[in-house]
Formats: sequence, C-alpha cells, structure tokens
Amino acid sequence: MGAMTGMAVEWVGVALAAGRGTRMRSRIPKALHEVCGAPMLSHAASAIRAAGVMRLAVVAPGEPADAATKLAGAADGAEVVVQPQPLGTADALLSARRACEGAGGVLAGPADAPLTLGATLEKMMRKHERSGALATVLTARTETPYGMGRVARDSSGRLASIVEEADAAPEELEINEVNAGWYCFDPEWLWESLERVRPSRSGEKYLTDLVETAAREGAADWLEAADADEALGVNDMSQLAKVESVMRDRIRGRWMLAGVRLNDPATIYIDVGASLGRDTVVLPGTHVLGGTRVGSGCRIGPGTWLSDCVVSDGASVASSHCEGASIGANASVGPYSRLRPGAKIGPDVHVGNYAEVKSSEVGRGSRVGHFSYIGDAEVGRDVNIGAGSVTCNFDGKNKHRTIIGDGAFIGSGTMLVAPVEIGPGGRTGAGSVVTRDVAAGDLVVGVPARRGAVKRQLQNRGGDNGHDQPR
Ligand code: UD1
Ligand code: CA
Repeated sequence: MGAMTGMAVEWVGVALAAGRGTRMRSRIPKALHEVCGAPMLSHAASAIRAAGVMRLAVVAPGEPADAATKLAGAADGAEVVVQPQPLGTADALLSARRACEGAGGVLAGPADAPLTLGATLEKMMRKHERSGALATVLTARTETPYGMGRVARDSSGRLASIVEEADAAPEELEINEVNAGWYCFDPEWLWESLERVRPSRSGEKYLTDLVETAAREGAADWLEAADADEALGVNDMSQLAKVESVMRDRIRGRWMLAGVRLNDPATIYIDVGASLGRDTVVLPGTHVLGGTRVGSGCRIGPGTWLSDCVVSDGASVASSHCEGASIGANASVGPYSRLRPGAKIGPDVHVGNYAEVKSSEVGRGSRVGHFSYIGDAEVGRDVNIGAGSVTCNFDGKNKHRTIIGDGAFIGSGTMLVAPVEIGPGGRTGAGSVVTRDVAAGDLVVGVPARRGAVKRQLQNRGGDNGHDQPR
C-alpha cells in the first residue's frame, strides 16, 4: 500500500451501473436517469474525478444493447466493462478486474448515489491509505435508514459487517448507521476475496460481504460522511425526486454564495451544468437548464425557461421560453417571447411579446416588438420589425432565407415571402406581401408589394392611422 511505500498510490475508480433497477419501473437504465440535468452516473463520475481519481471504469449491463454506449457517454472518457448478468454488487465489481490492472487502490461506488461529494471520497481514500486497511467503507448516520445496509459493530464499537435490510434481524433494523455504498479496497486482496463471495439468500453476491471479511482479518476501516444526504441512494422514482431536491438546494446555495440574487429560491431550478454571473437577479418560476450561461447584472424571469442558452451581461428575459439561443448584452426579451435553437439576438435588441425567433440573427439595436415570426433570417442593425410581421420561410417543401439590411423598416403585418432580401434602409408598408427583393432605401407597398403602387396607396390612406408605418 501507498502508506507503506510512502509513494502516491494510483487509484482506479469503479462506478457500478449494471443493476436491473427494477424498483424504478422504467425502461431507461437507472444510472441514466437525470438529476439536475445530468445523468446520475455523470454525478458519480464527477465525484470520483473530483477526488483526484482520473482512471475510471463503469460497469454496464449487457441489456439493453445500447446501455453501455450511453453510459460511456455519461461518464465521458471512462472505460466501460459489461457485467453480462446482474448477479450482485460483488459480481459487478469483479467484472472490472481487468480495467483495474496495475492500480494501487480501488475506489468503488454506486452509480445511483449522486449526492456523494468528491471531497468526502478523497477523505476516505486518505484515511484508507493512512490506516493500511484492506477495505474502508463510507457510512452515514440517519434517522431514516430504510432500504440501506446497516453497519453492524462489535461490543467495542469496531466495524463487524454490513447487514442488508432483507437479512437484518429486528434489532439490526434499529441501527441508524448505514452503508453509503462507497468503498476503498486494497486491489490484491480485493480480487481474491471477491472470488470467494458466496451468493446471499437472494441469490445475489453482495459486495458488502467484503467488509465482514476484512473485519475478520482485522483490517476494515470506515469514514462517516459529514452530511447524511451524501448517502441517499436512488432505487425508485420517489427517491429520485428526493435526491434531486437536495441537489437543487445545493446548487442554489452555491450560486447565492457566488453573488446571484435568487428571489424565492425554492421556485428556481438551476441545472448542474448552468452558470450565472454576480448581481444577476433570478425571479420566481424560472428554469436555468443544461449548459446555459447567464452573465452578470441580468434579470431573468419571472417564469422564464432557458435551456442551453447564452445570456450576456445586463440582458433581461421575462416570462419567455428560450432554447439553444444567445442573447446579447443589454438586450431585452419578453414578456412572452419564444427563442428557438439558432436564435442569435444581438446586443441592445428588443424582442417583445408573442414574438418567435428561430435560426436567425438579429443585429444590434433592432426591435421585434410584437407578434412576429422571424425564421431563417438575417436581420441587420437598427431594424424595426412592425407588429405581426412574418418571414414566410416555408413553401411547403423547403425552408428559405430572408435578409433584412441595416436600418430597414418593416411595416406592421408585412409578409416577407422567402427567399427575399430587403436592402439597407428599405421600407415596407403595413400589410405588404413582399415577394421580390427590395433595393436599398426603397419603399414598397401592397399585395404583392410594388414600388409603383406606393404613391397611390399613400394618397388613399388619408392620414396617420397610428400604426408603425414608414413616414
Ligand atoms: C447497496 C448495498 C447497501 C447500501 C446501498 C447504498 C449491496 C449488497 N448493498 O444496496 O448495503 O446501503 O447500496 O446505496 O451492495 N449493481 C450492478 N450489478 C448488480 C447489482 C447492482 O452493477 O448485479 C449496481 C446498481 O446498478 C447500483 C449499485 O450497484 O448502481 C448498487 O446496487 P443496488 O441494487 O441499488 O443496491 P442497494 O439495494 O441500493
Ligand atoms: Ca441503490
């Protein structure tokens, strides 16, 4: 062991993710269920890496066929080994033997306990190295030990064994110290001992048996997690919800400590991969999801949904649904806007109520105030899109692009039938249906819109009707 040689031990982490997950009653492999926007396995993998263990193996089930690939993706860079049959946690770890070749220490844990912290695992590893134990187990004290293995101790308080709930005597069920499911092992001892594990009454081979074996050999140690929540495991949908609510609280706490103002935190949902800048205010009922990055001094919400978006400093996004969009500095979006993937909203832009933008750039200072659809378009700077204007991008078969030059003025209710281009400073009258390109500075009006028709229409109009109109 490292403690004896005085040299750093090379650890391998093993995440067990090959169980049946029967209690989830789901077709999705358990470790792929998401907690705060990331699969449970990826939380376990992050904890292992945060503990300084960079070599990682994941034990995946043989079925469904795509599980191994998906788990590999979730653990990003881990070696995946398959446990063909779910014969128990001891058998699962044994499947990772080859992947652990040459390791000086094995850190093994469940893929269904996403609240365990890297710092705790690291503490356990250091204790394991110091004590020279054969096996070290992470424990926790809880008033609700139900469903977990209980930690049995002898009369002098020494670790004796882990008793699974199904096998526990009534007095053992009273024990409120539980097995969190994470272990450090001396590899040489581990593989040999794993081969000797006999099936339990349930037919499964329990990894927990090794604690008793090590204890008998006088070399079992433990670390008690400072926070019992770290031991919370997910075996069913209700535990999944519980674990997620604990993680949400942690995430919110972290951002508040980083200077983000969460107004009514319990109603604000922030994924683990999202980030927020200081002095940003997040109002109730808001979701900040996926890899969303919000800058500083922003105002998000109430009731805003941001998924994989980038929001630059000083922007505001009120009561809007935004996905895969970027929002420039000091832009204002909403209330009630919809930004779809590929919407690139420039700085100082205003996108207003009931406006939808998809796969389009909107240049600095432009305004899409009311009821508009902008799809597959390039909108220049300082453009005004009048209420109810539409880029008619779909001809029933194909999508076409609309280009609107800087300073253009699109009158209310203009239909821009793509492909079409409005030159810089071009203008369209209210209700125009634009089927042909408009040259820079030109004004077109009518159905279909024409230059020649402009004079007559403007004469017939009889004064200002109060709508957004070129003058
Ligand atoms: C296990 C422990 C229990 C501990 C609890 C902590 C055993 C026997 N019991 O119980 O003492 O309190 O975790 O959360 O270990 N797995 C496989 N292959 C298998 C079986 C399971 O890879 O054949 C994986 C599962 O996918 C899961 C992990 O191992 O990620 C733990 O298995 P699970 O069935 O959830 O064990 P628990 O009943 O929670
Ligand atoms: Ca479990």
